[in-house]
Formats: sequence, structure tokens, C-alpha cells
Amino acid sequence: MTRFEFHPVRNPTVRMNGVCPYFTMYPLRFPFARLGSVKRGTRVLDPFCGRGTTNFAARLHGLASAGLDSNPVAAAVAQAKLVSASVKEVMAACRRALRTGGRAAPDGDFWQRCYHEATLSEICALRGFFLKRAELSAAEVMLRAVVLGILHGPRSKGEPTYLSNQMPRTYATKPASAVRFWQKREMEPEYVDVLGAVKRRAEYLLAKLPEGTEGEVRLADSRVPASYEGLGEFDLVITSPPYLGMRTYWPDQWLRNWFLGGPEQVEYARPEQITTQDAEPFCADLASVWRACAGACTRDARLIIRFGALPSYGTEPSALIKRTLALADCGWEIRTIKRAGAASQGRRQADQFQTKQSEAIEEVDVYCQLAH
Ligand SMILES: C[S@@+](CC[C@H](N)C(=O)[O-])C[C@H]1O[C@@H](n2cnc3c(N)ncnc32)[C@H](O)[C@@H]1O
Repeated sequence: MTRFEFHPVRNPTVRMNGVCPYFTMYPLRFPFARLGSVKRGTRVLDPFCGRGTTNFAARLHGLASAGLDSNPVAAAVAQAKLVSASVKEVMAACRRALRTGGRAAPDGDFWQRCYHEATLSEICALRGFFLKRAELSAAEVMLRAVVLGILHGPRSKGEPTYLSNQMPRTYATKPASAVRFWQKREMEPEYVDVLGAVKRRAEYLLAKLPEGTEGEVRLADSRVPASYEGLGEFDLVITSPPYLGMRTYWPDQWLRNWFLGGPEQVEYARPEQITTQDAEPFCADLASVWRACAGACTRDARLIIRFGALPSYGTEPSALIKRTLALADCGWEIRTIKRAGAASQGRRQADQFQTKQSEAIEEVDVYCQLAH
């Protein structure tokens, strides 16, 4: 059997998976490998879909899938993993959006230094356009994800990839420290033509999309059974919940969240996000998700969880996940627990965190079966 090529330069079919970094993503090869031996027609669910890695892996295998995530950035990026649109269609959508969107731009030091005035005005036009739309076409879903992916990132010597002044790509710096950084280095934002930047990025990402498959990604709270209504039944759940102790999920995406209609300031938490600070409410929340998933699954469905916790919490990830499944008390039985990383060094989800997180995150893969 030939090995699947995961490198986006060598295999254009996987490029779309990298449309926008999402801080807590797991590598494509993790869900892809788990889906390699399933029966045709298997329906896949990810109740914490993040940037839609599971959904994209399902698409590559020609399988139907659904995803839920309560972070608007995650849902917008994951939705783009399931649609098909050409560069021409995305560019037509971009031109339309730039013509029709509102242009009220936020004011203040951060905004003046992050974007050139004209670039910010174009970004605001796109933002206004998306906020006014009740339903998006496939090309608009794709455009939105492309713009999220280039909203901030490092400056380059040649034609710019990113719209912002110098910034990390994976997370947005907080306004005060970003301003200090730019002031100290006397870095002024340069004009970046949004249309040109979108075109360059879309040409790369959409060079060869995989065949489309049936699927839906919802901006929804996966603890609530109603969030799964109308999605049909699932045979396999592959997911990775928030990790206990990780604090940065929400604030790190504050600028992308602003683009999607969020506030101009950094927000630190939201009630629709599972709390990761205290073990008790965290376990109760995860138990609700496992219960809701069981309700959306076929009788002998399987559940695969990649899970981690910061060692300072004093609880082994495997003990913690066992507790959440026991609390759920809905038929998920653990078959195997493997340490993630033992068999695939450097391919763990924790390796994707490029943060100041100093502690090593311990990860496990937990395999369960539904037994009624
Ligand atoms: C570890 S990340 C999943 C990353 C994903 N595997 C990927 O590759 O992108 C956990 C996700 O859970 C989401 N989340 C947290 N609370 C949630 C809730 N109540 N309902 C749905 N999603 C939630 C977060 O927004 C985050 O995207």
C-alpha cells in the first residue's frame, strides 16, 4: 500500500487543512489513520471539532461527517473544510463583499499600528458583509476561512501573505504588548491589498480540493443534546476536548473573533466554552458531552478521544478521562488507553502549542465502545 502524503507542498489535496491555524489542533494523520480501516458508509462525529481536522480527514476518506464547536473561529474554519469552491468563485465573492460591506473601523493605537488604514478599511468591509449575511454560499464560507487565515501573521520580504503588521500566525498578541513590540522596533503597518492577498492564498489552498462529502459543522454547545438534532446517527466519534489547565483557548483567538463579530477588546472566557480551570466542573461538562454523543450514535458506535492535562493538576489524563466516562454513565466502555506520542513522537497535539506554556502536557488516546 502506498503511504499517504501529508506534506501540503507535495500533496495539494491536503492544503485546505492548513487554511487557518487553530491553536489546539491535532495533526491530520491522527484522525486520518483511525478512519483508514472503517466500513464504507461510516458516519463520523467530532463534538469538539476545532478547525475541523476530523471532518477533513473524513472527507479525504469519502466519509460523511459532522462537527460541533462553540468557538466561532473554529466553526467558521471547520465549515470551510467541507465545502468546494474555485478560486474564481472565491474572488468573485471577495469583490462583492468589498463593494457591499460597511466600513466603520475601530479606532485606537492597536488598530492604527496593526493594519494600514486602507487595509483595515477593506477588512472592515468584509467583516460588515459577513455580519449582514444570514446564509453563506460555499464560496463565501471559503472566503471567510481564507481571510481568517491571513488576518495576522509575520511580514515577509516578497509579496505579503498576511494583512497585519508583524504578529504570530497561530495566536493574536494582546493589544498592549503588540503596540509595545511595534513601537520598540518602529514597525509601521504597510498597505496590503486584501484582494491580492486573498487571491495568492486561495490559489495555493484550492489548487486541488478533495472530492466533497456529505457533512455539516455547527457553531453549537456540544454539552446540549439539542445541538445534535437533525444531524443523523453516527458510528464513530473522534475528538479531542479542551485540555485541563489550558487557559489560552479563547483569548488567543481574539482578533479572529473580532473579525467574526466579536468585541474590539480581548475576552478571556465565555460560558459556552467548557471551563478548564477546575477538575470538578470540567469532568461534569465532559460527561454531558459523552452522554449527548451516545444519544446521537448507533448501538455499537466507537469513541476515540485524544486527551491531555497539565501535570500541575495532579491527575493523570487517563484517570481523568475514566472519571468523565463513569460520570456520563451512558454505556461508553473503555477498551484501550494508549500514551499518545509513544508511537508517533513529535506528532502529538501538545506539540502544536507554541505558547509560553512551560509544563509538558501529557496526552493519551482512549478507545471506547458503546455497550447498551
Ligand atoms: C482541543 S480543541 C479541538 C481541536 C481539534 N481536534 C482540531 O484539530 O482543531 C477543543 C475545542 O473544544 C471547543 N469547545 C470548548 N467548549 C465547547 C463546548 N461546550 N461545545 C463545543 N465545543 C467546545 C473549543 O472551542 C476548542 O475548539
